[in-house]
Amino acid sequence: KRPAGAPPKELAQKVQKVGIIGAGLMASQFALLFARKLRVPVLITDIDQARVDKGLDYIRGEIDKMLEKGRLTPDDANQVRALVQGTTDKSLYADCDWVIEAVFEELGVKQQVFAEIEPIIAETAIIATNTSSLSVENIGAKLAHPERLVGFHFFNPVAVMPLIEVVKVPTTNEATLATAMEVAKRLGKSAVITADRPGFVVNRLLAKVFGEAARALDDGTPVAAVERAYAPIGLPMGPFELIDLVGWKVAAHVQDTMVGAFPDRFYASENLHRAADLEQVVEKDKHGKVVDLSKAAKKALILGTSP
Ligand code: 3HC
Repeated sequence: KRPAGAPPKELAQKVQKVGIIGAGLMASQFALLFARKLRVPVLITDIDQARVDKGLDYIRGEIDKMLEKGRLTPDDANQVRALVQGTTDKSLYADCDWVIEAVFEELGVKQQVFAEIEPIIAETAIIATNTSSLSVENIGAKLAHPERLVGFHFFNPVAVMPLIEVVKVPTTNEATLATAMEVAKRLGKSAVITADRPGFVVNRLLAKVFGEAARALDDGTPVAAVERAYAPIGLPMGPFELIDLVGWKVAAHVQDTMVGAFPDRFYASENLHRAADLEQVVEKDKHGKVVDLSKAAKKALILGTSP
């Protein structure tokens, strides 16, 4: 059955080479997924070779783990390894028919990336953004061919989370939308088409959860209590552990976007920002259960009460 709002799949364009802009954690996870599932050449790029090499190292490490777990045969692992190429030379993107950016979550940076890539690629090549809460239309505002623009929002961890939000903007044409839906399917994900509104669907819900969890903390509820209270409603991890997973910077950014868009509906927590430079905020016991904030987080967060 065709997903709600999806055009006929016959309209989908071929995707035979993928360009990923960025070589950070998200970008590297995409590269691996595209190479594994689509079995087409995948390029990653970044501003310098050191960042590209870090991305490639991550990908090789993940392939080794999959080999160990028997998820990839040695032949498949060799094939996937060979498909992913890292470069700082954007001219190599010329024959990519699908390009997705996963760079820093700032409008100007993303616009700049698109301005650089559009003259290099074919006029019909799809341009996708993995933005988690910025307006897709604004990111593509300067494109000469905005009909091939689409949001394609993954979730962390990319290899495991089953959903992709496909974000349609007023200019997105049917071929682009059909291609995005087909690519999501080939990646083994289910896709929903969402409107280009702040937070799309998932982050709109998550920002509520993050904000209310932070408010509980601000009100003096211990971290472990917030985490424990969350589990019985059937979710795999509590809000603070989840924020550690997506990154506090990302969580704070999503929160800002939602507070900016709907100030009367979202809670602006200073604590989310105070912890933004930390990599890990929660401390777990030997069973992996969240017991408290880490020492560094306690220092960074000026809490009214301590758990
Ligand atoms: N990369 C690859 N595989 C991973 C992984 C990773 N980073 N993390 C976990 N996995 C795999 C494991 O290898 C394991 O596979 P196996 O069972 O075949 O060996 C499987 O996932 C389950 O992992 P674990 O047994 O280690 O742990 P759990 O069963 O507790 O699952 C979890 C871990 C999948 C992360 C689960 O806790 C979960 O679903 N958490 C919620 C995640 C979530 O909500 N993500 C959305 C975040 S929002 C976002 O990204 C949007 C952004 O815009 C903010």
